[in-house]
Amino acid sequence: METMECILTRRSIRHFTADKVSEEIIHELLEAVRWAPSWANTQTWEVVVVKDPDIRQQLVDATNANRASQAITEAAAVMVFCSRQGIAGTKNGTYATIKGDWSMFDCALACQNFCLAAHNQGLGTVYIGRFDHEKVDAVLGLPEDIKSVVIIPLGYAARESKAPPRKSLNEFVHLDKFGQSYPIK
Ligand SMILES: Cc1cc2nc3c(=O)[nH]c(=O)nc-3n(C[C@H](O)[C@H](O)[C@H](O)COP(=O)(O)O)c2cc1C
Repeated sequence: METMECILTRRSIRHFTADKVSEEIIHELLEAVRWAPSWANTQTWEVVVVKDPDIRQQLVDATNANRASQAITEAAAVMVFCSRQGIAGTKNGTYATIKGDWSMFDCALACQNFCLAAHNQGLGTVYIGRFDHEKVDAVLGLPEDIKSVVIIPLGYAARESKAPPRKSLNEFVHLDKFGQSYPIK
C-alpha cells in the first residue's frame, strides 16, 4: 500500500472478527515499532502483548465503559504500549527542554508505526487512552519506572468505520506567525 493511502485510509476499528493474526504478522508489526524514531534513539517504549483471557478481562475492567472496551475482548491480540520514565528528553541526566519527559511522544511515534503497519496488512487497530492507568500498571506487573500509555487491540475488522471529519488545513496551518493564513491552493 502507498504511504499516503495507508495514512488516509487507516481508521479506528472497534469491532473484530474471530480470525486469528499470525505470529509472522505480529512480528512484522513489532518490527515497525522497533524502527520508530525516538529522543537520542533512547527507544523507551515497552510493549506487552496480551493474549491471556483473564488479563484481557482485567484490561476491559480498567477501561470502565470505554467506547472501545469491546475491542479488547474481540481482538486477536491486545498490545499495551508503555514507556520507561525519566530517560527520553534528557541530556547529561537532566531534562533538556521545558517539556520534561519525552517518552510519551516517542511512544506515540512507535504506536503509529504499529497501527499503520497493521493497516498495511489489512488489520484494524484502535488507540485506547482513557482507562485507569494505575490499575493496568498493576495488572501487567510493570516496574516502578515503566507506565502504561495506550492499549491497542489488533484484529481483522468486523465492519468498516466511517472517517470522522477533520479540520481543514487553513484551520491549523499558519504562515510565519500564528494566526497568519498559509495560502492553500
Ligand atoms: C491518544 C489517543 C487516545 C484515544 N483514546 C480512545 C479511547 O479511549 N476510546 C476510543 O474509542 N477511541 C480512542 N481514540 C481513537 C480516536 O477517537 C480516533 O482516532 C479519532 O476519533 C479519529 O478517528 P480515526 O482513528 O478513525 O481516524 C484515541 C486516539 C488517540 C490518538
